[in-house]
Amino acid sequence: MRTAIYPGSFDPLTNGHLDVLQRATKLFHRVIVAVAKNESKSPLFTSAERVALIKEGVANLPNVEVDAFEGLLVDYARKQKAQAIVRGLRAVSDFEFEFQMALMNRKLDENIETIFMMPKETYTFISSRIVKEIARLGGDISSFVPAHVETALKKKLKLKM
Ligand code: PNS
Repeated sequence: MRTAIYPGSFDPLTNGHLDVLQRATKLFHRVIVAVAKNESKSPLFTSAERVALIKEGVANLPNVEVDAFEGLLVDYARKQKAQAIVRGLRAVSDFEFEFQMALMNRKLDENIETIFMMPKETYTFISSRIVKEIARLGGDISSFVPAHVETALKKKLKLKM
């Protein structure tokens, strides 16, 4: 039974995240999407909201679970008996931080491998941060996030204005 953790802030879930996740489900028996609570990043959505949005987005994927975690990722991966951490790599600009994180996680636990997966090229320019900015400025985000995330984002931003 091979298990992978797909960790991130997911603030909010994008079509790029879903693409990477779908690819990961083909390699692992069980994939756990792990939402980092990470309040220091001042997320727009609470961790419970981010988990709920992901759960709705992965309803058609049978071997996916969604959870939130605090503390070290490797500790969480060990707790879940996972062999791997999956991270999406969109462009060279992602590489430096991802490389540092992967090697640090390996130093912390050499039994957990990091696997990088490239999303479909049409998603390489999507990030949660840019999607939030476009939505805030009234742009069309319908091709970047699932419909229920678009609705939640618009509602959240209206409340904040
Ligand atoms: O979507 P993000 O914000 O790029 O995800 C970053 C995340 C959550 C994967 C990273 O910050 C993380 O693993 N946080 C948990 C704390 C931890 O283990 N830090 C050491 C990583 S080297």
